[in-house]
This record gives sequence, C-alpha cells and structure tokens, in this order.
Amino acid sequence: MKKLFTEFYKTNLNDQDLNEFKIILNKFYIETTEKSNTFYALKDKYANRQITKEELQKARLEYRAVKNEFAKVTQNNAFKINLNNARNLLKAAKKTKAAIDIQKAQEEYVIAKHLYDEAKLVIKEKGRGASLAKVSENALEVRHLSFKYSPDFPYALKDVNFDIKHGEYVTIIGHNGSGKSTLSKLLIGVLSAEEGDIKVFGNLMTKNNLDQIRRFLGIVFQNPDNQFIGSTVEADIAFGLENKRVNPEDMREIIIEAASKVRMENFLDKEPLNLSGGQKQRVAIASTLALNPDIIIFDEATSMLDPKGNREIKEIMVELRNTGLKTIISITHDMDEILNADKVIVMNGGRLEKMGTPEEILKDKEYLRSRHLDIPFLATVEEALENVGVKVQHSKNMDELVKQICKK
Ligand SMILES: Nc1ncnc2c1ncn2[C@@H]1O[C@H](COP(=O)(O)OP(=O)(O)OP(=O)(O)O)[C@@H](O)[C@H]1O
Ligand SMILES: [Mg+2]
Repeated sequence: MKKLFTEFYKTNLNDQDLNEFKIILNKFYIETTEKSNTFYALKDKYANRQITKEELQKARLEYRAVKNEFAKVTQNNAFKINLNNARNLLKAAKKTKAAIDIQKAQEEYVIAKHLYDEAKLVIKEKGRGASLAKVSENALEVRHLSFKYSPDFPYALKDVNFDIKHGEYVTIIGHNGSGKSTLSKLLIGVLSAEEGDIKVFGNLMTKNNLDQIRRFLGIVFQNPDNQFIGSTVEADIAFGLENKRVNPEDMREIIIEAASKVRMENFLDKEPLNLSGGQKQRVAIASTLALNPDIIIFDEATSMLDPKGNREIKEIMVELRNTGLKTIISITHDMDEILNADKVIVMNGGRLEKMGTPEEILKDKEYLRSRHLDIPFLATVEEALENVGVKVQHSKNMDELVKQICKK
C-alpha cells in the first residue's frame, strides 16, 4: 500500500470510535445531571439549616468538576482532525494522478465527513444515540420487580424474578389481569418500576439510559390496525428507520430484507388498509425487524387473527427463534403456542408462579386448570393416551405424536 494511505490508516477514526464517543459523552451527561440534582437538593436543605456549609460546598465542587470534564469531552476535536487528515490525504492522492488512489481517498473523505457531522449531532443530543455494549449473555435479568398503577391500588406486579438468555423463545401465560401486559410495559420502559430492577444485556435500566436500552427491544401489539403509520407497506416500514436516522441509501435494502423475512416483499406498494389481519401483523413485525432489535416482545400478537393468520405469525416466531439471533418473548392465551417455546412463565395475581420448559409446565394439569388455563389439545390427547395405558413421549406437534403412535 502507498505510504500516504498507511500513514492515514494509522490514526483514522471509524464508527466504533463514534459510538465510544457517544457512550463517554452520555456517561458524563448522566453524571452531570445527577450531581446537579444532588447539589440543588442540598441547597434547599442548607437553606433550611439541615446540612452544614461544608457539605454543600463539597457537592458544589463535585458538580463543578464533572461539569468541567463534560465540557472538555464536548470540545473533543478528534473528528475534526480526522476530517483534516482525510482532506490532506485526498489532496496528496490527487497529486499522484492515480485514479484508484483518488477514488479510495475520496471514499475515506466521505466517511470522515460523515463521522464529523455525526459527532456534532452527538454532542447536541448529549450522546443519547449511543448503543450500549452487551455485557451479559442474558438478554433480560429481572429482579424483585414490583409495580402499582397508583399508590392505593393493589400490586399489578409483585416481586417478579427471572432471567432470559439471548436466543431463547419464552412464552408468558396467565389469566386476565395477571400482570402480563404490565410486565411487558416495564420491560420496554413505558412504565417504570416501583421496586426492583431490569437489566438488558447486563445494562441496568435507568431513566437516563432508556433511549439506549430501548434500542435492544421491539414490541408487536395485539391489534394490527393500531400499528400503522405509513400509507404503503414500504412507507410504514421506512418510518422507524427514518426516526433512527438510517442512511436513505441503505433504507430500501433493509426494508426488502425485513419484508422478506415475513414473506411480504411483494406487498411493498400496497396500502395497509387492504391487507388481511395476518398480513398487517406481518408488516408490523417487519417494521420491528427493520430496526434490528435483539429482543422482540409479542403482546398477544396473534389473538385477533383468523386461524391462518395465527398460524403464519407463530411460524414466523419459530423461524426468528431458529436464527439464534433474536430473543422472543410472547405473551399469549394460545396454549398451543407454548409448545413451540423454550421456556414458559406462568403469571398469577401479579406474581411469577412458575417458570419451566413446556413439558415441565404441562406436567401439572391440575395446576393449569386451577389457574383457568386451557390444556393444549396435544397435551389433552397425550393425557388421554396415558390414561388408557399408552405411554408416549412429549411431542412438539400433532405430526410428531402421530408418528410415535404409528411406531407402536
Ligand atoms: N392503566 C391501568 N390502571 C390501573 N390498573 C391497571 C391498568 N392496567 C392494568 N391494570 C391492572 O393491573 C393488573 C394487571 O393487568 P395487566 O393488563 O398487566 O394484565 P394481563 O395479564 O395483561 O391481562 P390480559 O390477559 O387481560 O391482557 C390488573 O389487575 C389490571 O386491572
Ligand atoms: Mg394484557
């Protein structure tokens, strides 16, 4: 490689550097906010003679120190230097008159310019666009989570604890009012916990990092009609991408890929109104997939669909799970769906009462009946067979069971 390029590549910055810059900036932003809150709270206390002057002074100095540090970080001109280097590289390349070098230097210049512009925006939004690192292989860790809709209401969730590994498909079942939707709203940060905490890929969810935490999560709701924004399928999927400031040049490819995953790639120019319920729900999933979240929550996403639509969506959930790249959490009243899952959570009266594999959960049929939960048809057949002395292994679907019986 030419010397001018090797020199440039020694120091040039990339997207990862930009993200690190965002993380640092956001960390300082959060710290500054916290120190400022503490300082102003203590100021009130000092006014009421509840603390000493020294204590207030200490808080003032801490606040000032972090504010200064924050200012220093925002004055970071590494991206400007990087842009200058790229400009010089381009100049030098032009002198060589070698078309390949000029083109390559031109590309580097475009990247450096993009990083520089982004860094300016990042400073403006105080690093909130940063993506958090995954510091745990658990997609979710929930500890002692409790929630009330109002102080004098009963707990809608009480001391809920569980871990979900990345890549798992978990169904959440429970009678009406057992707290399933409340749990999903806490997980996506629409509601905030009264007690306890939620970690997403090891990152503790706080009100300061919600924007970043939310990027790990996507949700698909029950009613497909309420999830449309765009006038065509394509516009609808594009909407979230525009919000995320995805490069317009990359958009079309992302949209096609997401639509293909739910077999809607031939409907991109159709109006959402003219689609069937199942198709609409598939578009809603595509809109979520386009944003590439690691965790997708389905809150009764199949309950309003006809049997065909229902089947299609369940197939898609299984396909997504089989990629090994997504964590799927599906809240459902469809007891047949739980057979597809790796784990099942049973909620009752705001508490997590059981968590286990579908086999473990289905073993205790009396328990399920006591919780007003249906027994999947398949499990009923297995139970009936057992009652007449035919021992069968637990099957995932009817085909498997029929094969087992035929072998006997
Ligand atoms: N906005 C709200 N204000 C007050 N109470 C609420 C609110 N939403 C839910 N609740 C109460 O919180 C409890 C849990 O409700 P939640 O919606 O989480 O149950 P669910 O398991 O999702 O039920 P379903 O199967 O009917 O969807 C219930 O007692 C419910 O009445
Ligand atoms: Mg609900």
